[in-house]
Amino acid sequence: MRPEAKYSKKYVVPNRPASVQEVTSTKKPEEPLRAKSAQEVRPDDEDPFKEFDNRGLGLRSLSSVNQRVIQDAARHKSGKWELTCHTEGLKDVIHDMRHALRGKFIANVPLLSLDVLSLEEQEQIVGKVRVKSIDAGQNIVEEGDVGDCLYIVERGYCQIFKKLDGVQTFVKRIEKEDFFGELAVMYDVPRAATVTADTDVTVLTLNREDLFKTISSDRIQKMRRVARAQFLSGIALFQPLNLKQKVAVAEHLKSKQWNAGEAICRQNEHISGESQCMYIIEDGDCGVSKQGKGKADGGTVHTMKPGQSFGMLGLLYGAPRAASITALTPCKTLSITYDELLKTCGKDLMVLMRTAVRQHLVRMIPAFKRASDDVIVELVKRLKEVHYKRWEQIFAEGENAESILVLEEGSCLEHHGSVSDLKEWRYRSHEAEVEEHNNPGTFFGAEGVSNSEAKFHFTLVAITECTVLEIPRDLILSLLPAPGRSSIFDAK
Ligand code: CMP
Repeated sequence: MRPEAKYSKKYVVPNRPASVQEVTSTKKPEEPLRAKSAQEVRPDDEDPFKEFDNRGLGLRSLSSVNQRVIQDAARHKSGKWELTCHTEGLKDVIHDMRHALRGKFIANVPLLSLDVLSLEEQEQIVGKVRVKSIDAGQNIVEEGDVGDCLYIVERGYCQIFKKLDGVQTFVKRIEKEDFFGELAVMYDVPRAATVTADTDVTVLTLNREDLFKTISSDRIQKMRRVARAQFLSGIALFQPLNLKQKVAVAEHLKSKQWNAGEAICRQNEHISGESQCMYIIEDGDCGVSKQGKGKADGGTVHTMKPGQSFGMLGLLYGAPRAASITALTPCKTLSITYDELLKTCGKDLMVLMRTAVRQHLVRMIPAFKRASDDVIVELVKRLKEVHYKRWEQIFAEGENAESILVLEEGSCLEHHGSVSDLKEWRYRSHEAEVEEHNNPGTFFGAEGVSNSEAKFHFTLVAITECTVLEIPRDLILSLLPAPGRSSIFDAK
């Protein structure tokens, strides 16, 4: 049989070139020789070369190439189809993964954890949060504004500032998993602080309406209790606590109502047991007044607002109240006693809390106000803790002031004379001749650090057991960077 007959027959294509010459010629091949485009090929397309035995023509290689082209096209088509399905599926998978991750993330936020919400509520909340990106330096909420969103930090750092006595004061830095803005949402009050993006930040936001629609009212009450943990931020005593520990303390805060004009605590009153507590103002304004040397008439010195606290040193050291606090309007306070705090936090955490308060006391000395946190931490680590018994002399008039001495606990008397004189005077009730110091943080001998000739101008005697923190001049000088050394003593 003539090869061309076989060729034409096998291709079953009309007008097919009939000769080998034609096949090999430069003439443009017609339709059947063209490999179908990827779109035209279906995986089940029939192979047009299937029955073509071209061995005799020496075209075996062309056949197999074509075959491969068609198979590749088919594979490509099916691959593309799968890819389209995958892209669609992938979008769902990514969405589900994001949702699951966000759910996991939200479950770690104490305010929205399973300790507070049911699983179902938590899942609904996850569906309601919105993601927001904020550039570094921008304010996210501003103190005094009306707001209806709470925020959870997903990425980056924010800083919280509060106006205290008219001065914008740094409260703390917050990070991933911390939340803010819940006070305005929960209590329907203006923003209690300004929150600024310290770095570029991503936050999850949740508005009041979604929150209250999704969560049952008894759980909202629970959320309010957890939200109180925020009030503990900015109080030196609670600095070492992480958010979960703060939440545990917040759950033990007792709420109390005060009428306008009612005294919450009185200057110099001695406290113990139930009265050895500290207060946080939750609602209303309180007036602070002080009487004593250099103080006018005991009238209101300044006003404290919701979020501010008082009585920390009384709680920790049992020290007599340093000022009187009166409710100026109907007030609500949250309070916790020393015993409750110890029970909630345990001894180890109490040790850390004491150290944090020591750092606070040292920081209160005007000379250290501008010192870095590292210097304060180091000073507290290396200072000497000295205990004095009743009637023991802490220092004598005329002695060189070689250290700053900070009264941490107890009462002492400042006087001019001997201890025996002092005992006599006390016996004869000549208190006017002496001055009693019992406020933790009262310090002596600061001028001795910048002036090695400085002397104490009076004698100080313990009249109860006292703990005094001794910060030697050499230690202070060794910790201060040389160029700024003198400047910290100028701080007022
Ligand atoms: P809100 O008042 O809604 O907006 C500002 C937020 O700052 C506030 O809620 C708290 O979440 C947060 N914040 C953190 N620390 C304090 C503080 N010491 N006093 C008030 N708000 C604080």
